[in-house]
Amino acid sequence: MRKVIIIGAGLAGCYLATQLQTTCDVTIITKKSAEDSNSMLAQGGIAASLDPGDTPAEHEADTLVAGAHHNKETAVKQLVTTGPTLIKRLIAAGMPFDRKADGQLDFGLEGAHSHHRILHANGDRTGAALTSFVQSLLHQVHWQTNSEALQLTIQSGVCTGVVVRNTQTGELTTLNGDAVVLATGGLGNLFPLTTNNATITGDGIAMAARAGAKLTDMAYMQFHPTLLTLHGRCYGLITEAIRGSGAILVDENNHRIMANVPKKDLAPRDVVARHLQAWQRQGHDLFLDISAIPNFTDRFPGVTENLDNHHVPFRTTKRIPIQPGAHFMMGGVATDLSAQTSLPHLFAVGEVACNGVHGANRLASNSLLDCLVSAKKAAEKIMTITPTETFKNTALPNSKVDPFLPTMTALQDKAWQYLGVVRTRTGLKTFLRWLDQFDYPSPVPTQLTSTQFAIANLCLCAEKIARAAQAAPKSLGANYIEESVVPDQAG
Ligand code: SIN
Repeated sequence: MRKVIIIGAGLAGCYLATQLQTTCDVTIITKKSAEDSNSMLAQGGIAASLDPGDTPAEHEADTLVAGAHHNKETAVKQLVTTGPTLIKRLIAAGMPFDRKADGQLDFGLEGAHSHHRILHANGDRTGAALTSFVQSLLHQVHWQTNSEALQLTIQSGVCTGVVVRNTQTGELTTLNGDAVVLATGGLGNLFPLTTNNATITGDGIAMAARAGAKLTDMAYMQFHPTLLTLHGRCYGLITEAIRGSGAILVDENNHRIMANVPKKDLAPRDVVARHLQAWQRQGHDLFLDISAIPNFTDRFPGVTENLDNHHVPFRTTKRIPIQPGAHFMMGGVATDLSAQTSLPHLFAVGEVACNGVHGANRLASNSLLDCLVSAKKAAEKIMTITPTETFKNTALPNSKVDPFLPTMTALQDKAWQYLGVVRTRTGLKTFLRWLDQFDYPSPVPTQLTSTQFAIANLCLCAEKIARAAQAAPKSLGANYIEESVVPDQAG
């Protein structure tokens, strides 16, 4: 029987496991628990052209416009045509998406969509509802929780497994597989303000890069416009579905920040994030004005609970304090449309992967959809791999280097300053010079603590982002480079 190792327990990894569990020997390893993933935190929903007035072609067009046409068109087509079928199957299996009083699916609206096409569940707790539902379909997989993947193993140019450390006992083991699948999410914790789960530290991208797999589009990091922000710290996402329901972005004087921008508050995320940051840099505070939404607490119970937990008086002020923060990596481990990386038998699904579907800026609520579609395609390809009879033993790594690493806070602060919403060419150079004083060797010494390991991975990802941004001839989508004004030589 084929052995498949899936690294990561979010929607992409778990949906892949549902497709393989009856025909393969599947192990899911996860750094912490089955509940720790970005998928579990997703709020707004999952986009699909299932409303009778909508079409895959319109969804495709919106995806391409938001992605600044940097998208791979075949990947977008695959997403918008395969996605609705997979969602219908989940609904048939019992997935409880929210419905209107008449029993019809309730489609929400989000930024840069031309149609109401966002399915949601349990109000604004879509990610938790969908990921838990998919996990409830898993009956024949082995789970290894509290297990961090340290290093991919390669034999004769083929990925054969992964070295895993139990975070509670420190024990190192090598898991062998006919296919190894990265489903580790992105790298949001490179930045001090992020919507990401604390476990998301670029592990899959860094491991793949160290193993020689190709990365692509690393310049494109999405900053979500609205994170709940109190005293300069972020306390989670404020879903874009709230703007889709009529909320607007204002400053302390009630000035409407997006008034003169095409599509206003529902412009693509990169556009909104830049406008907000520019306004903030002029000394203004930023708020989401929710006064146009009468049933806010019913429609957005997850956000309501978060606001109440942080004593935000939104019921009286009708305002939520926000600012942009790191949300989603559009680039990552390069894959084809079947989630195959450049390293044989290594696959990548969901945010860790880049099959080109998101272009230079992901369209809202396309990420959960891509988790399903990329996992489905990976499953089809993995089923064609001939099972290995016996795996050769791989020696466990045993290095004793003590690398000089930055602190997590120092790395995050520099990343925010130089790799954030707006970049400059001088800033990118300064960042790389700063990073150059540290070593984050390959392979990473296995005696490092989990935090040091995360820092080493994020350093490598940060370097890839900075170099990719530097190599870009001009700004595109989320890689916005403010070119310095060349002084007029004559004058
Ligand atoms: C949100 O609910 O605003 C986030 C959804 C997404 O990232 O697509």
